[in-house]
Amino acid sequence: MNRYFVVILFGLINLAVQAQTSIIAHRGSSFTAPENTVASALLAWQQNADAVELDIYLSQDNRVVVIHDSNTKRTTGQDFKVAETSSDVLRTLDAGSWKNEKYKGEKIPFLEEMIATVPSGKKLVIEIKCGVEVLPALQKIVANCGKKKQLIFIGFGWETILAAKQLFPKNACYWLSSSATDVQEKIKEAAKKGLDGINLNNKIVDEEIVRLAKRQHLKVLSWTIDDPEEAKRLVKLGVKGITTNRPDVMKSSIR
Ligand code: G3P
Ligand code: CA
Repeated sequence: MNRYFVVILFGLINLAVQAQTSIIAHRGSSFTAPENTVASALLAWQQNADAVELDIYLSQDNRVVVIHDSNTKRTTGQDFKVAETSSDVLRTLDAGSWKNEKYKGEKIPFLEEMIATVPSGKKLVIEIKCGVEVLPALQKIVANCGKKKQLIFIGFGWETILAAKQLFPKNACYWLSSSATDVQEKIKEAAKKGLDGINLNNKIVDEEIVRLAKRQHLKVLSWTIDDPEEAKRLVKLGVKGITTNRPDVMKSSIR
């Protein structure tokens, strides 16, 4: 076979594989903008991310709010437990200044506000940080948002993600893990329970785990990768979603 033909063929195959990989902005474009805010989501869309990932908790008054920690100290400077605080109070906090003065006044978003930013053709990856208590409120939001098909659910809590899958059978649901041993044990179970895949810390992703997942027809996503070389390793292994704080860098380097 002609040498040039082989090089071009491999190039095309590589491009096709990369095109199937989604770039997921971790807590929005959180290297630059304050994580889990409307500003970080808008920046990610501007940088052409395929999806935005965010974290949710339930407030005391049953509102679904977007924040990574169970309390507000790290990202607002004021110490409130999210589950024990009313959303009226949470919404007075400044979730932007800690990152950069120019983001002063960014609020802890309601989930509805983040869903409203999602352009057509893009996805929102919703990480359920709390337990099943959030599901009734989440169900109402999903039913009324008009973008149900664009939502994906992820979670470390096994029972919680299984319950989410039962509630939203047509939406992709992934179990999160950073333990290789736990994943090997749970892969078959995840497939049996109807989960769509597993979402793993990049440090535990290797050929064997991806092969085991593929055998069960489960997709593999991974987090949190800001190094393009590491992203290329994962894409080669068959990982379908690269979760990154820097979607701009990742978009230009792995495409
Ligand atoms: O996308 C999954 C990843 O966000 C899980 O870790 O701590 O950043 O929520 P964490
Ligand atoms: Ca997360």
